[in-house]
This record gives sequence, structure tokens and C-alpha cells, in this order.
Amino acid sequence: MEKFRIHIIIGARPNFMKAAPVYHALKEVDEVDVEMIHTGQHYDKKLSDDILADLQVPAPEVNLKVGSGSHAVQTANIMIAYEALCMTDRPDLVIVVGDVNSTIACALTAAKLGLQVAHLESGLRSGDRGMPEEINRLLTDRISDVLWTPSEDADYNLLSEGVEKKKITFVGNLMIDSLVRMTPKIDVIDVFEEYGVKSGEFVLLTLHRPSNVDDPEKLASILNKISDTAKHFGKSVVFPVHPRTKKMLNHSGVSEVVKNPSFRLLEPLSYLHFMAMVKKASIVITDSGGIQEETTFLGVPCLTLRANTERPITISQGTNRLVKADQILSAAGELLNMQKKGNYNPPKYWDGGSAGRILADVKERYLKNR
Ligand code: UD1
Repeated sequence: MEKFRIHIIIGARPNFMKAAPVYHALKEVDEVDVEMIHTGQHYDKKLSDDILADLQVPAPEVNLKVGSGSHAVQTANIMIAYEALCMTDRPDLVIVVGDVNSTIACALTAAKLGLQVAHLESGLRSGDRGMPEEINRLLTDRISDVLWTPSEDADYNLLSEGVEKKKITFVGNLMIDSLVRMTPKIDVIDVFEEYGVKSGEFVLLTLHRPSNVDDPEKLASILNKISDTAKHFGKSVVFPVHPRTKKMLNHSGVSEVVKNPSFRLLEPLSYLHFMAMVKKASIVITDSGGIQEETTFLGVPCLTLRANTERPITISQGTNRLVKADQILSAAGELLNMQKKGNYNPPKYWDGGSAGRILADVKERYLKNR
């Protein structure tokens, strides 16, 4: 019998940690032929190859090399390139991940070719259509055949949008699978030797959302507030800078703040090094989606510089708090003074077993009756 052929689509950094455990699990199944397809949305080594290497994923054989562009250009280029691939290499199932432009581009291409589409990390909603990711989530969920959710609020969102229950499987958080699997390698990294910072004595900062970084004046003002906060608590700020944010560093207001000796600017870190830094940070300040989840799992205080989150469970059951720039100082004070929770329990199915639940679902839906 011919093997059941699966494409896993990856494009941008946050996809890799979620796709890797599923890839590893499917690779073990004899009747499945699984392949990672890289769209090339992220092409810098530090945002792509280094992370895949850390996750022990071989370099994908196919890279569509679409690169950067406006949303329409990037999405359209991925669709054109992926359609050509699907015409010659018809997969039985296309797995798309998260909420980036590669996700909607490949889901739409595959759905129109009549291919089965499964969406991993389905059902998250920020309610904010000003974020491109929210549009990507809504549309991808609408056209996918199988919806794998990371938390129960996502099931609720999908059901309330009228999605059929049988399409949804609550599998849990794949990002936590990667974290659990890689913990032995993360825990041997000595952050003092690597970055000269001591455990509990630094703020770890990441910023890349257009709403925070595309206007240099706004970015300078945010960085100023963070600098004041760090000084107030006698901490340094370690800031691995995303390429989108790096472009703004030449602006005088921004360059002035980051010249401050309390700031330590770094290139984007590999997965293992970044997670080692999260574990040792006294507090994380971010506008990322995934980092809200990782800090929740690890019990590390997190301030998220956004007006909303598609991951509310990180606030209701975790260590995350949404803040505006002028609330950073007071919120950091509250979180830093809070005793670390003694009996901290992560949300349901954030346990390292999510890839196993996806495998069981693929077997039940597709392999059982072949
Ligand atoms: C993308 C995702 C976002 C995710 C983020 C994680 C979308 C809509 N956005 O945002 O959800 O949180 O990835 O990093 O898909 N660039 C480089 N090198 C690269 C990639 C990008 O220099 O390898 C530069 C490009 O010049 C580009 C800018 O960064 O203009 C933004 O890249 P893009 O992939 O469009 O979006 P991100 O901001 O990275």
C-alpha cells in the first residue's frame, strides 16, 4: 500500500517549536511519509536554521524561498510556490501551524486543491483584527478540515463560531512538548558564562510586533520605560533584537536609549539559549505570543506589551499580565515582589504529550480505515 503522505508547513520562527514534536512523532509511523516544507518566510540563519538544528529537525528538503514582502506579496508568493509543489507532489494531508502568513497561504492553497488540511494551534482569538495574525487564524480555522486546539478556551471559541464539534480535537500545547523534550539540553547552558548575566538579575526583553516597533518614537518611549524600570530594580536588560526591530535601531531616539549601559543588545538567540535565558530571568517583557505560554509553563513572571492576547489562559492560569508602556514599572514591582507560586500547575495538556495526542488523532481520522 502507498504511504500516507503528509506535509508539515513551517515558515516563521514560532512555527518550528510547534511543528518539531509532530514531525518527530509522525516519522516513527511506518505507513506515513512526512515531510517538512519551509516556505522561506524567515530566512535569517538565526531565525530559522539554528532553531531547527536545536530542535533536532533536519534541514527541510523543500524551501520555497519566498522571503519578505508586503502581506499580499508574501502571502501570494507562498501560494504560487506551494500550489506548484502540490501539483507534482499531492500530499494526503497538509498540516499548517499557528497564525503566520505561511499558515493561511498554504491552508488556502491546499483547501482549493481539495486536499485535507489540519490546523495546529487552532481556535485562539485575540478579538483584534488590527493584528494580521488574527485574520490568519480566523481564515485558517474556517477552511481547515481538522482543528487541533491548545487549550479548552480555543474549543469554546470554535464552537461559538459554529464549527462542527467533530472537526475539533483538544490536543494541548505543542510548544510545551519541545520545551519538555529539550529541557536536559537547556539546563546545562551556563548563562553567566555565555552572556555574563546572573540568574535572577536581569530582565529579558523581546519586541517585534508592528504596533510596538514600527514607529520609532513609540519604540523609543517603550524602551525608555523599560530602562527606568530596570534601573529602579537594579537589573540589566538583555534584549535579543528581532530583524524587524533592528531596522529601527538607527533612529536617533531609539539608539540613544539602547546606548545606556544597562542594555545588553544581542542577535536573536537559538532556541536552547533563549529558553535558558527565560528560565534564569527575573522577569520577561515581551510582545510575543509563544513566550507568554513558555513563561506560564515555567512559572516565570511575564509582562506582555499588548492591548489583548489570544492566549488568555496565560493570565487566568499563568504568570502573564498585559500592560501598557506606562504600567511597566508598577506591574514589574508587583510581580517581582510576589513569591514564586509554590504549587504551580500549568494548564491542562501542557504536559509534553501533545504530539502523542495528534498522532492518535491522525490514526483515528485517516489511517484506521485505509
Ligand atoms: C512574523 C509573523 C509573526 C510572528 C513573527 C515571529 C506574520 C504576519 N507575522 O512576523 O506572527 O510572531 O514572525 O518572528 O506572519 N526579516 C529579516 N530576516 C528574516 C525574516 C524577516 O530580516 O529572516 C525582516 C524582513 O525585512 C521583514 C521583517 O523582518 O520586512 C518582518 O518579517 P515578516 O516575516 O514579514 O514578519 P515578522 O515581523 O517576522
